[in-house]
Amino acid sequence: MTTASACGKVILLGEHAVVYGRPAIAVPVSQVRAEAAVEPLPDAGDILLEAPDLGRSYWLSQADAADGIAHLVRLALKELGVPAHDLRITVRSELPIGRGMGSGAAVSTAIVRALGRHFGADWPAEKVSALVFEAEKLYHGTPSGIDNTVIAFEAPVYFIKGQPPALLPIGAPLPLLIADTGIFSSTREVVGAVREAHARAPERYEALFDAIGELVKAARQSLEAGDLPALGRLMDENHRLLQAIGVSCPELDALVQAAKGAGALGAKLSGAGRGGNMIVLVTPERAAAVEQALRAAGAVRVIFTRVLSPSSEQNHHAVA
Ligand code: PMV
Repeated sequence: MTTASACGKVILLGEHAVVYGRPAIAVPVSQVRAEAAVEPLPDAGDILLEAPDLGRSYWLSQADAADGIAHLVRLALKELGVPAHDLRITVRSELPIGRGMGSGAAVSTAIVRALGRHFGADWPAEKVSALVFEAEKLYHGTPSGIDNTVIAFEAPVYFIKGQPPALLPIGAPLPLLIADTGIFSSTREVVGAVREAHARAPERYEALFDAIGELVKAARQSLEAGDLPALGRLMDENHRLLQAIGVSCPELDALVQAAKGAGALGAKLSGAGRGGNMIVLVTPERAAAVEQALRAAGAVRVIFTRVLSPSSEQNHHAVA
């Protein structure tokens, strides 16, 4: 049996504006992962796809045309030059679905890595990312590509749609809390709602996206310098702009307010919004108090992570 895993992610700054060509920064969440296992299934004549956590088990040949995983498996096997039969692929994920943590891209990444490894291919992160992007298109319609990039590289990325990603060196580890509203958020729906609002008031929305783009550029410098208080202020400002775009909700705002009240450096919604997760930049000293405040304000789950600079090996793969 061959196994592989992939991390989750959160968007630090720049969601939504990134769909309209502005930069965004995303970071990996390494301790919450998806895992895939590939093993021979002799004489099956087909490939069995199993997700025991979701109670799903089906044959590749019978998968729906819109099934991103099936599409991805066919694509990866074609790339490897091996026939699509006599395998069992099992996936498991600790990542919550529909919370902006990249669960779909993480499962896809684990599958691509496990298939590559099973057939002796050591695909670089760029290749894994490109294959996973094909599955993302089936799930999200018009994804920016940020999820597959940050997850395949498992490093902070500065991302502009259509451009090679830049892995982002960071001056000091980032202590982040990720708090879940418990509300399912459909990225496709929220992105669609923003598209309609943008079509009704293009000038207003372009100005909001410009403001977000500018603060993402400033945040890149704060990150590189390890200036966490400055980064926190930019996160606060990004949340206000996301409120103006119309993608926050009372539950997200309550968590942001609770975090700030308990001494967070910065707090904002993360991902599509209208539910899902919010993120908080904390100092190690305030982390416990902020976590408690988040739970008291309704968070159903709080994850603590420390984001580190890309390793030198990952830097080797950096394109820009
Ligand atoms: O974190 P998610 O998967 O909810 O991503 C949403 C990010 C958006 O910028 C809103 C959409 C995208 O494709 O980048």
